[in-house]
Amino acid sequence: MARVSRAALVTGAAGGIGAAVVAQLVADGHDVLAVDLRPDPDGPGVPFAADLATREGNRAAVGAALERFGRLDVVVANAGLQHVSPVESFPEDRWDALLALMLTSPFLLARYAWPALRVSGDARVIAVASAHALAASPYKSAYVAAKHGVLGLVKTLALEGADHGILTTAVCPGFVRTPLVERQIADQAEAHGIPEDEVLEGVILAPHAVKRLLEPEEVAGVVGMLAGPLGRGFTGVPVTMDLGWTAR
Ligand SMILES: NC(=O)c1ccc[n+]([C@@H]2O[C@H](COP(=O)([O-])OP(=O)(O)OC[C@H]3O[C@@H](n4cnc5c(N)ncnc54)[C@H](O)[C@@H]3O)[C@@H](O)[C@H]2O)c1
Repeated sequence: MARVSRAALVTGAAGGIGAAVVAQLVADGHDVLAVDLRPDPDGPGVPFAADLATREGNRAAVGAALERFGRLDVVVANAGLQHVSPVESFPEDRWDALLALMLTSPFLLARYAWPALRVSGDARVIAVASAHALAASPYKSAYVAAKHGVLGLVKTLALEGADHGILTTAVCPGFVRTPLVERQIADQAEAHGIPEDEVLEGVILAPHAVKRLLEPEEVAGVVGMLAGPLGRGFTGVPVTMDLGWTAR
């Protein structure tokens, strides 16, 4: 009998980590809906455009995956954005935008996908969180709050999904070589009052015990493991890959 493909939905799929996760899951034999504001039409997944900062966007993404594949086994909530600013001048609209994308979107995706994930019986919800789900840095109030929040959501979903074959985890990387990090360099330089060429070593890599950036493919490999048979032992936990950051 032909093996039935598992179906996955990945958000932020046009970006650094998301694009690598789509490639990993496709290589592992999943059908993948690759959701982004501007999805890559030439990428390995099925591109789908949605604004995940809205309820309609999250509902449409889940609906499109079910319409296209007829099932849903894996949801990877990865879309994210950063804003670096001291709390007293932190723009309130940016707070709302970061919370909508990195905390409310994972909730809405789980909420809308839940009936299909129960039918799967061997489902995974994986949030690409951050070491900032476990530790804070100055000038990142919204990001740190959203990432701590999504870890709380992951723990709750793990308890609710336990009797339904739904396992939920939060991958918590340190800094990864992606556009999200590259875009922070000027803002970090301003916030810390140092030249831009000192930001990588002086700020970004400062918390890592091992002084290098992670690569998107390393994170994608862990997501692929969690989505597959070796991931069956993980639920309700942060899966930390932070090069020693939170060991301190
Ligand atoms: N890069 C890092 O160092 C790092 C470290 C830890 C965790 N993370 C997390 O990994 C995830 C991916 O980050 P990345 O570094 O690959 O970022 P990235 O900026 O390269 O990619 C993010 C993607 O999200 C998409 N996106 C943004 N707003 C959206 C919206 N409203 N609707 C739909 N899509 C939207 C963007 O278009 C982009 O393709 C994020 O959740 C981020 O917080 C990143």
